[in-house]
Amino acid sequence: MTATLEQLHRCHLAVDLGAARTRVYVRGAGLVVDQPSVAAVNTRTGSLIAVGEFAERMTGRTPGYIRVVRPVSGGTVVDIEMAQRMLRHLLGDKLRRALRRKPRLRAAVCTPHDADPLAQRAAMETLVGLGARRVELVDTLIAAAVGCGLPVERAEASMIMVCGSAATQVAVLSLGSIVTAERVPVGGEAVDHAIVQHLRTQHELMLPSQSVRPLQLTLSGNGITPQGPATTEIHGRDVSTGLTRSVRIDTAAVREAIHTPLTSVLDGIGKVLRDCPPDLVADLVDRGIMMVGGSALLPGLDEMLREATGMPVQIAERPDVCAVLGLGAMLEGKIEPMVLDPLAS
Ligand SMILES: Nc1ncnc2c1ncn2[C@@H]1O[C@H](COP(=O)(O)OP(=O)(O)OP(=O)(O)O)[C@@H](O)[C@H]1O
Ligand SMILES: [Mg+2]
Repeated sequence: MTATLEQLHRCHLAVDLGAARTRVYVRGAGLVVDQPSVAAVNTRTGSLIAVGEFAERMTGRTPGYIRVVRPVSGGTVVDIEMAQRMLRHLLGDKLRRALRRKPRLRAAVCTPHDADPLAQRAAMETLVGLGARRVELVDTLIAAAVGCGLPVERAEASMIMVCGSAATQVAVLSLGSIVTAERVPVGGEAVDHAIVQHLRTQHELMLPSQSVRPLQLTLSGNGITPQGPATTEIHGRDVSTGLTRSVRIDTAAVREAIHTPLTSVLDGIGKVLRDCPPDLVADLVDRGIMMVGGSALLPGLDEMLREATGMPVQIAERPDVCAVLGLGAMLEGKIEPMVLDPLAS
């Protein structure tokens, strides 16, 4: 599926349409969009009211006639028309005009490793609607590995873990290709959901989704590792009375709740290692796992993986934007093509 470096070098813009955030890199201009993949629509007129940050802030706070929608779900564009309208607004007039001036606009877009033809088609159609004459598809795992500076093209193994919002992808790469990969349908959303459910069942407290991140931060700097504070106070709404209430919760129990969805991520890593040829596993023991994606920032996740796998674990420098920056580097021609047979030259 992944396009060649030469094809990518001819592209003008690169897009990463994620379930949580949309990122756009324009050749010569850099990363120009990094906004939530959210749009707010007026259901009476069908017009767009807001996109990105503004629309996300409206979630759960809208009157009946405004609907907040997410056109990308689980790494797939589920509403092509809405995704196009959202992207047009996120790009803004000035940039759109500049891109329209290109006679043959070419775009690159990254899609999850196991994206089916329908999902690939949806990503392409979205960009065709934006005026692209040609769309190149790149595997997110490859784009992210390039973006975080892994030596993808060498004959040695690197392991990457892309922790997105809807899913976590784990893969071993060698010689510019994916040797084995696994996609686990557990990401940042599942972790947030586990926290909300825990408070609901154990403390009869409803926690607005916006409060989950501050709670995670309270659990940090040590996060999901056991050295944090023993208890913390949080505010929410009582499930039965509907009145606001604050409770003192046991952080160890919250950590336990987070661990449950993360065990399937550990299973995914185990499966990739089992499927991997032994020579490559030997490389991985020294080099370890590189974590990218927004959920790699979940406090303490790296420590947990280190303990569970016994391998070195590293978080990329800018984990959330690695994939689009990797695409960007390929667009700008910063990545040297691999010479498979140096003796021939
Ligand atoms: N500082 C943070 N701590 C914990 N989680 C975070 C942090 N920042 C972002 N996240 C989580 O990361 C997720 C977003 O990651 P990312 O931006 O990689 O998603 P995406 O690329 O849109 O999703 P996908 O690739 O799965 O379609 C969200 O679920 C968010 O909760
Ligand atoms: Mg992503």
